[in-house]
Amino acid sequence: MSPGEKLDPIPDSFILQPPVFHPVVPYVTTIFGGLHAGKMVMLQGVVPLKAHRFQVDFQCGCSLCPRPDIAVHFNPRFHTTKPHVICNTLRGGHWQREVRWPGLALQRGASFLILFLFGSEEVKVSVNGQHFLHYRYRLPLSRVDTLGIFGDIYVKAVGFLNISPFVEGSSEYPVGHPFVLQSSRLEVPCSRALPRGLWPGQVIIVRGLVLQKPKDFTLSLRDVAAQVPVTLRASFADRTLAWVSHWGRKKLVLAPFLFYPQRFFEVLLLCQEGELKLALNGQALGTISLDQQALERLRELRISGSIQLYCVHY
Ligand code: GAL
Repeated sequence: MSPGEKLDPIPDSFILQPPVFHPVVPYVTTIFGGLHAGKMVMLQGVVPLKAHRFQVDFQCGCSLCPRPDIAVHFNPRFHTTKPHVICNTLRGGHWQREVRWPGLALQRGASFLILFLFGSEEVKVSVNGQHFLHYRYRLPLSRVDTLGIFGDIYVKAVGFLNISPFVEGSSEYPVGHPFVLQSSRLEVPCSRALPRGLWPGQVIIVRGLVLQKPKDFTLSLRDVAAQVPVTLRASFADRTLAWVSHWGRKKLVLAPFLFYPQRFFEVLLLCQEGELKLALNGQALGTISLDQQALERLRELRISGSIQLYCVHY
């Protein structure tokens, strides 16, 4: 940034922590803004063939000595005949009472996706899309600001996400959509068929990284006649985000401009009867009206511009 250049005042909650790909374990990182109810941490990885154990710790700080308190210690163990998970809390250097969760769906040699969903009283953990455990906090969640991953694990990606701001759109247990790096399916421009159009309740999620020196980013919805009834366009020249209609009419999204070079972003569209709801980086940013028939006639989602994609899901 050149001296004197002005930045929009962005509320902290708008900034999304970028995913980390293939970090070296032991891996310790700060959780931007700490943990609070509604945050999710997604862990994609593989259990090594000779794994003994690994642990994912949600820590209060990162000092080595004295050891930081650990609000949530999630510790899969593979060395027994029945793989299981131990959850516990470390307080003032002392482990509390352990909770043991049998029936672990993780296997040596297999890849996995674990989702930690932080609620106000407890954390819920799903393994490969299935609810696995819930652990009640014994330390205030607000003290947690550090994630530590240790032991026998290959980490492919760690993602930091928010639950959908639309109650209607978020199931009780949101599904984690894996991040993918350098997949030909995610090359930009990227096109996805919408064989049955968009229906109420459907959600489109696009996650990625803005490139250096970006020009624009567009997400357009095309119909059977290859018309484009609606496009969401971020323009970096004038730093605006707008809905652009088939006729070129622009409706500005009135919010701080959230796309920054080399920053992660998440666009979520929720289809409802006659409208699309937009959320950016977990924050609801209004709706665009589109008649229901137009939504049902949509056949293609096209994403283009100065971005690298990590996930497109609908
Ligand atoms: C201990 C183990 C620690 C931690 C703890 C959890 O036996 O040494 O690493 O897993 O259990 O209760």
